[in-house]
Amino acid sequence: MPLTIKPITPRFGAEISGVDITRPLDEQTQREILDAQHKWGITVWRNTGLDDASHVAFSRIFGHLERVPRGNRKMRWEFEELFDAGNLDAEGRIIDNEMVRLHKKGDRLWHTDSSFMDLRSAYSLLLCHETPPVGGQTWFADTRSAYDDLPQSMKDRIEHLEADHSIWWSRKMAGYPFTEEEIDARPMARHPLVHVHQGSGRKALYIAAHARDIVGMPSEEGRALLKELIEFATQPQYIFNVTYAVGDMVIWDNLCSMHRGGDYDEANHRRDMRRTTVREGPPPSEPDDPFGDLFRASGPSALSNARGVMSDPVKA
Ligand SMILES: [Fe+2]
Repeated sequence: MPLTIKPITPRFGAEISGVDITRPLDEQTQREILDAQHKWGITVWRNTGLDDASHVAFSRIFGHLERVPRGNRKMRWEFEELFDAGNLDAEGRIIDNEMVRLHKKGDRLWHTDSSFMDLRSAYSLLLCHETPPVGGQTWFADTRSAYDDLPQSMKDRIEHLEADHSIWWSRKMAGYPFTEEEIDARPMARHPLVHVHQGSGRKALYIAAHARDIVGMPSEEGRALLKELIEFATQPQYIFNVTYAVGDMVIWDNLCSMHRGGDYDEANHRRDMRRTTVREGPPPSEPDDPFGDLFRASGPSALSNARGVMSDPVKA
């Protein structure tokens, strides 16, 4: 059965219907879904009927799934492929810790998931299980069209530049009290500012909140350039938002978009969102633990614990 595709903006984002994604899909249907994802960057699926198991199973058509760094923490579900993107603790209660909430504020900045890793996250598939009565939407920005529309002089300026990305930097920008030295001591990943989006062959900006400095450029100048590019790419003509109902899912391609969470009353209203994430390589046949080294290497949990923050920073 062919997909029904309804564009959200002329160049970016589409609602898709016409296929039951709770069941195994034939190759033709999988191909059509991937083609639509490549073209539109963001796809919205309403009232999917997915549960944890079928969410994870469907996600595998996009590639290799990242696994949550569990540590000693108790999880709310059995699937290690499901990231907790809501505001509930292990017992399903609203998190009652101001520092944890501050840590999560970084998600309200324009970002790309896991750009602080060497192998980047490609797709994120976010499924709504419970939504607050007001707010809690997700905003998306089109980094391909934004790149297309940049003045040629800016395209020439940034063509061969690279940026260093750190999750700790975006947390600092959101108000968490890390020092520059603490960020320096932790892992970072380096990525080009401009890349070719493999699925479409179009060029895209790869910037956003984890990007801290431009390689070879004074910090002040590099950070100003990153800010200018983010502001350019988040002008009204490049963005839209999705409001969720239970069962709705959004799939975004981190390699051609940015996103940010909308505000809601996180101290009083429950929000249960679960996310699978598809990583750029390695192939599904190879074992993968992308977060282990990142969060063990520089002892972040020691610092986090010292400040009373649960060591669960990978929400971004
Ligand atoms: Fe995110």
